[in-house]
Amino acid sequence: MKDLFGKALLDYQNGNYTEDLITSTSISDEDELPLPYLFRSYKEMPKLEQKALQLAKGKVLDVGCGSGSHSLYLQSKGIDVKAIDISKGAIEVTKLRGVLNSELKDVLNETDTFDTILLLMNGTGIFQELSQVSKYLKHLKSLLKPQGQILIDSSDITYMYEDDDGGVWQNMNSDYYGELDYFLSYKGEDETPMKWLYLDFNTLLTACKAVGLQCELVIEGEHYDYLARLS
Ligand SMILES: C[S@@+](CC[C@H](N)C(=O)[O-])C[C@H]1O[C@@H](n2cnc3c(N)ncnc32)[C@H](O)[C@@H]1O
Repeated sequence: MKDLFGKALLDYQNGNYTEDLITSTSISDEDELPLPYLFRSYKEMPKLEQKALQLAKGKVLDVGCGSGSHSLYLQSKGIDVKAIDISKGAIEVTKLRGVLNSELKDVLNETDTFDTILLLMNGTGIFQELSQVSKYLKHLKSLLKPQGQILIDSSDITYMYEDDDGGVWQNMNSDYYGELDYFLSYKGEDETPMKWLYLDFNTLLTACKAVGLQCELVIEGEHYDYLARLS
């Protein structure tokens, strides 16, 4: 991984914002991911994320924290939060922004236990593909204190398979329609392609049942997205 995501976050943090990240997927064309969005304040966050932050309590783990926007908000409310990410640049930025407890770490290597685990901005993306969901869910479950909760958001991306005249096509290269290849570029450089998973609520529910987690729908967003609470 070249860590172009981290490079872009560091540029923004250091006042060198000249261009946005460019993303595309195996089923969609290029799109801009504006860097200011990755530094959003509570007011600028989607309702789903605001709701997750309202529900967060006790000792919190912010998984895939990016620049640390969610952690900073919780910290400002006096909540004990630990932020982790696999992007070196992202973790540098969290420290520059004042997150007190952040670490360069893959969630699968986390061993502490928490009352709340947050996975936000398509939190299921980190699972990468359907076949890995149960491994990640089992691990996340092992990090929960008694009565602990996991707050995770995702989307049902069926709409991405609809063409302009209302027809629906299928992705024949994948077992599940939410499994995408994700491409990112920044300042003319291409990142190593990644796998990124969108899970519809019913598939998440089934996967949770299989590993002994309860899964409830907290709220739905404005565009096929939802926030779920696992316990
Ligand atoms: C879509 S970004 C979301 C960033 C942040 N949560 C936000 O809402 O702005 C996903 C983040 O997850 C991180 N990530 C991906 N896989 C991870 C893993 N296995 N463990 C920890 N972080 C991971 C990426 O480096 C990236 O910063």
